[in-house]
Amino acid sequence: MPAELSPIDKAKFAAARRAVEFVEDGMRVGLGTGSTAAWMVRCLGDVVREEGLRIRGVATSARTADLARQVGIEIIDLDEAKWLDLTIDGTDEFDQQMNLIKGGGGALLREKIVATASDQMIVIADAAKEVAQLGAFPLPVEVIPFGWQTTRALLEETLVSMDVLGRTTSLRLNGDKPFVTDEGNFIVDLHLSRIGNVRQLALVLNQIPGVVENGLFIDICDVVIIGQGDGRIEIRDINKGTVEHDRIEFVESENLFSEMGE
Ligand code: 5RP
Repeated sequence: MPAELSPIDKAKFAAARRAVEFVEDGMRVGLGTGSTAAWMVRCLGDVVREEGLRIRGVATSARTADLARQVGIEIIDLDEAKWLDLTIDGTDEFDQQMNLIKGGGGALLREKIVATASDQMIVIADAAKEVAQLGAFPLPVEVIPFGWQTTRALLEETLVSMDVLGRTTSLRLNGDKPFVTDEGNFIVDLHLSRIGNVRQLALVLNQIPGVVENGLFIDICDVVIIGQGDGRIEIRDINKGTVEHDRIEFVESENLFSEMGE
């Protein structure tokens, strides 16, 4: 493994590598977005090419679809798949109940649709993503471009009566222009610092006209795989109530490490 791979990247890789072991022949698999998910897509591509695993993937973003095709994974539309056996994705934060904040990579809408249409969602993360209470990571809210400033004002007004610590918002930018999602929408990030009632907030945000979806994933994740830089793995299954420990041995592989994660 090249020396330049940071402990965080090794942790992400370890979690991703272990998650791929959940994928079985014939499965329809949701493929997440972000640097951790990119490691997973590369690992899955290795298994497809080297072991002949037959799977079909549904990508949560155009960039994941591109990467998946590059590594030999067949990509189909969600409507073609209809339902998925498994989705594997990263996260920006997770708490003890396995509630998540997602959307740091701007793909929260497709990610939520795909994860919700899956029998099982596995989240892969480095240990730094675990928090006692969600909210330190700005909560992404996808809004339609029409009247976005009005929608943002409504979001700020709504936050006044919510159990949160901070109430500022910002439009996500790409350079000096608004960041545009794969669905052609904008993202308003909510800087909340701490969210007291995630369930209430998730419901209330989606009532605002112009809001398409928010980045709170409540009761969607089934398993969290937490990686450490030394290859240690923890697997928490919320349905079984189990916690398992494992270890990934890092083996240098031209295919995997020739390119860094995103
Ligand atoms: C993209 C996401 C990602 O899963 C999240 O941002 C984590 O990214 P990374 O694995 O790069 O830390 O929600 O919309």
